[in-house]
Amino acid sequence: MKHKATFNEVLKEVKQKELIHSYDVIGDIIVIRLHPELESQKEQIAEAFHTFYRKVRTIVAIPLYSHTDALYRIRDLDVIWGDERFETTHKESGCVFKVDLKHIFFSPRLSYERMRIAQKVAPGETIINLFSGVGCFSILIAKTQPKTKIYSVDVNPYAYKYMKENVTLNRVEGTVIPILGDARSELEKLECVADRVLMPLPEEAYSFLPAAVKALNPDRVGMIHYYDVSMGSRDDKLFNTPINRVKDILSSNFGNTIRIEVEEKRIVRSVGPRKYHVVLDLRIVFV
Ligand SMILES: C[S@@+](CC[C@H](N)C(=O)[O-])C[C@H]1O[C@@H](n2cnc3c(N)ncnc32)[C@H](O)[C@@H]1O
Repeated sequence: MKHKATFNEVLKEVKQKELIHSYDVIGDIIVIRLHPELESQKEQIAEAFHTFYRKVRTIVAIPLYSHTDALYRIRDLDVIWGDERFETTHKESGCVFKVDLKHIFFSPRLSYERMRIAQKVAPGETIINLFSGVGCFSILIAKTQPKTKIYSVDVNPYAYKYMKENVTLNRVEGTVIPILGDARSELEKLECVADRVLMPLPEEAYSFLPAAVKALNPDRVGMIHYYDVSMGSRDDKLFNTPINRVKDILSSNFGNTIRIEVEEKRIVRSVGPRKYHVVLDLRIVFV
């Protein structure tokens, strides 16, 4: 608490106190989401952050309303202080993740969600982690529950390169299997093999749902961790649209041959005014 008060003081000096919730510390890089109104004060803001985070070597800004690359989910970064570099190593839940923020998506804000999923996994499971980025979910699962096999798929060649490196760094070779490819075509090669499928691509996961169900082993009850975007208030109704979307898609593809049960649902994070990333843990029962 004492530290936070000191940091608030520093930010107060540059009259940017509202920034306090809109930055991430990733390894030795700080990423600040910068409101356009604050553009002219970015050097001052960077100095204030550096006063508090002495070990940081680079501070980058993301303009608040900047464009996000639709496929790789990356954004333009502008170095406002320190070395012109985007590669760093981030520690999370006993894992190390090497990342290149210019070329791959990485968010430390998903750390709770990654641990939540890892703790649900049972020994012996075969898992498919679609949209794996640098392999964070896969590696944490492998470290938490080593008796598993995790196919880890991403279409971004940079994500694949760092995923392979992270698998070695975390000594989970053989448990995590990095795959460079499109989720849809890779799922076709993995039909009927999985106990669990992770779909952490909120904007588009719905379109991969039928293929994800086909990847489940029909002899067992399967789990799908389905991510979506939902608009509304932070209450139970927020989940109605994603749940109805899942039911519509799966009933038109599979009719009565599967039963869907929502085991758990939660808001993963807020991504705008009344806009949230949500997750549904779906139990798929083949009947
Ligand atoms: C939101 S990020 C996921 C981050 C990751 N789960 C983590 O924990 O860091 C989405 C990822 O999906 C990948 N992606 C997007 N479309 C894809 C597709 N059709 N097939 C495979 N990967 C895809 C992007 O390259 C990006 O790395």
